[in-house]
Amino acid sequence: KLLEKKRNYWGKKEKVLGKREKVLEKDSPRPALQLQLGHRALGCCCKGPAPLTPGSLLAEDGDFLALDLGGTNFRVLRVRVSDNGLQKVEMESQIYEIHEDLMRGSGAQLFDHIAECLANFMEKLKIKDKKLPLGFTFSFPCHQTKLDESILVTWTKGFKSPDFDIDIVAVVNDTVGTMMTCGYDDHNCEVGLIVGTGTNACYMEEMRHIDLVEGDEGRMCINMEWGAFGDDGALNDIRTEFDHEIDMGSLNPGKQLFEKMISGMYMGELVRLILVKMAKEGLLFRGKLTSDLRTTGSGWFFAHEILTKLGLEPSHEDCLATHRICQIVSTRSANLCGATLAAVLRRIKENKGVDRLRSTVGVDGSVYKKHPHFARRLHKTVRKLLPDCEIRFVRSEDGSGKGAAMVTAVAYRLAAHQEP
Ligand code: GLC
Repeated sequence: KLLEKKRNYWGKKEKVLGKREKVLEKDSPRPALQLQLGHRALGCCCKGPAPLTPGSLLAEDGDFLALDLGGTNFRVLRVRVSDNGLQKVEMESQIYEIHEDLMRGSGAQLFDHIAECLANFMEKLKIKDKKLPLGFTFSFPCHQTKLDESILVTWTKGFKSPDFDIDIVAVVNDTVGTMMTCGYDDHNCEVGLIVGTGTNACYMEEMRHIDLVEGDEGRMCINMEWGAFGDDGALNDIRTEFDHEIDMGSLNPGKQLFEKMISGMYMGELVRLILVKMAKEGLLFRGKLTSDLRTTGSGWFFAHEILTKLGLEPSHEDCLATHRICQIVSTRSANLCGATLAAVLRRIKENKGVDRLRSTVGVDGSVYKKHPHFARRLHKTVRKLLPDCEIRFVRSEDGSGKGAAMVTAVAYRLAAHQEP
């Protein structure tokens, strides 16, 4: 129903636009409110169903709930949108743990747990009796048929629940939430990037290039699901024996191959595999291998302290070598990510037909935000590959959580405008 309304809205844009929206230049890049749309055929950019709305971020005032599942943490949020001439967004959130057994258990168990967390959060905030609209940042590959209907294609990032069914107002990918919240402050924001547990990006594509969707005007957000690049063999030339090994030992062999070369979930494990190989060849730790070092998932360590915790007795050279291996793995990750992002930005530049592109990338994710060198290396690669562009990187604050609530709030506003 909402989708229908949005189709109409698209057609009657001028009529529906309120005064405040006119502030946005007509041809300015539409920063945000395009939603996560659809999914890839493995390894390709995805296209979704219908265009939802053009780019004003103006939302309905009020309280909204959001769930954010798919990153390092599961979070429940309340987002309060208020407008005293200038729209203000406040939020409260709580992180809840999702144990590994739940991540791999049945869909019903996982979503029961999510519902319990939500109930607990609402109780704490004393809003249990209220029926607030809810948006869901669900950051897994989905076939999105409607704003509030999204069918999981495959679990990624350590989740493997066999089935589930959910009923909510809006489902949003974290990349889209990130682009949207950054677009709130910077109207040049037309790319959303996540480098955290997983990696992915979305960007604004010209409607005339999107065959699956009717209409040629304006732009629409494409959730690229770029973590799946290479699943068709395209990256075979650059995948190493360690990449193969990681993949074979993962929950989803043959899937998300690009992601497995880049994201936080796999970087530590890559380092561990390299250390094991070097130790086996007698190049490290005087050939000594401990069972901890042999254990899958005991990655994420640095030099002496962590090597010692793994029961090794590292020499100074061992520590230097380990540090260097970490550097190589994380630099490769930043370079791969930067090169792919540069390709996306070049595409935007060609679409616009400009000599010099000024564009903003909204970014989130634990690797990007917490790794001491990742962000700098990524920026360097992008700028090196795009000397003819001015690219700004904006860190999104809570984009993936706030994004879902914002989408819900805007959807409500649009729906309200469409009521007879
Ligand atoms: C995985 C998911 C994708 C998400 C990304 C970052 O690649 O498939 O939907 O955007 O992780 O969280």
